[in-house]
Amino acid sequence: MTTGLTRQFPGGVGLDSLSIDVAPGEVLALLGPNGAGKTTTVRLLNGVLAPDAGSATVLGLDPVTAGDELRARTGVLTEHAGLDDRLTARENLRYAAMVRNLRGPAIESRIEELLHRFGMTERADRLVRGASTGQRKRLGLARALLHDPDVLFLDEPTSGLDPTATRDVVELIGSLASEHGRTIVLATHFLGEAGRLADRMAVLDRGSLIAFGRPDDLAAELWDGMECDLDLGGSPSAAAIDAANAVSGVRDTTPHARGITIRVSTPDVVAGVVRSLVAHQVDVHAAVPRPPTLEDVYFEIEARRALETPTTTPPPTGPPAPPPMRKRVRT
Ligand SMILES: Nc1ncnc2c1ncn2[C@@H]1O[C@H](COP(=O)(O)OP(=O)(O)O)[C@@H](O)[C@H]1O
Ligand SMILES: [Mg+2]
Repeated sequence: MTTGLTRQFPGGVGLDSLSIDVAPGEVLALLGPNGAGKTTTVRLLNGVLAPDAGSATVLGLDPVTAGDELRARTGVLTEHAGLDDRLTARENLRYAAMVRNLRGPAIESRIEELLHRFGMTERADRLVRGASTGQRKRLGLARALLHDPDVLFLDEPTSGLDPTATRDVVELIGSLASEHGRTIVLATHFLGEAGRLADRMAVLDRGSLIAFGRPDDLAAELWDGMECDLDLGGSPSAAAIDAANAVSGVRDTTPHARGITIRVSTPDVVAGVVRSLVAHQVDVHAAVPRPPTLEDVYFEIEARRALETPTTTPPPTGPPAPPPMRKRVRT
């Protein structure tokens, strides 16, 4: 939990009065463009950076006064993993264990288990110098997990990875999240992985929190009603579009090559649209609800912010101003 957490840098604000809470067992995605303050937040929460104002508690501990105690229960994967190139993968883990004062046969078998789990057994005894970015990230994750931490901070865990390595790391993170109520704070500018993993999202922009909540709840605030795609087996006739538009509760319709995407006030309106189309001799092959993804929500928040505040700093809280409707683009 943070209250008014603030950190200035000589060049400007790193983080401005951040107040959020993270529930145990939750995956929180910290999102935002480069320079938004994601890394600063992770560093403040882990006590490697001190705030200028405000405070935080993590696992009931103050990162400023109880940093060592806290870091004994948290694990961090930093942006650049920070491994020692001159050591092998296994030596890197042994060294990290030594720094943490973890010794004996138990930690040796833990290292073995982690190397295996993260697909590093074969490269365990080769120098890290020649390792790929994906291998480094996996080794960094293994190191962050040596002491089985309750809270895991992951800063850009998939940056620089190819699609296959990204998928592997995202799957690993998903499995780590489901273990014994572990809490994960995931700082990323990749929305796909955030969408797959996060329970809640906090969107930062130039140090300010501009949105915080479950993607579904934020979507409900952003958009009126829901979208549903009607597959008509081909591009719709003008009569079909009119028939859909005529149904009460239809907010708007977007024709496309295989049918129509409709926005409706409530889900039950879809049945009315299907009945109306059938009455007009239009076959409906499928009606597929299109709930907004985290990515849709993020882009809408960014777009509205760009409209609201071209230059100045916005108020950090409160619902967004009157919604300029913007169609979500799907491929
Ligand atoms: N050690 C530092 N010294 C000076 N400025 C910094 C430092 N760390 C971060 N900043 C500044 O704080 C802002 C937020 O940075 P950061 O938290 O790294 O953003 P993100 O991780 O979201 O890309 C940026 O403007 C950045 O230049
Ligand atoms: Mg960063």
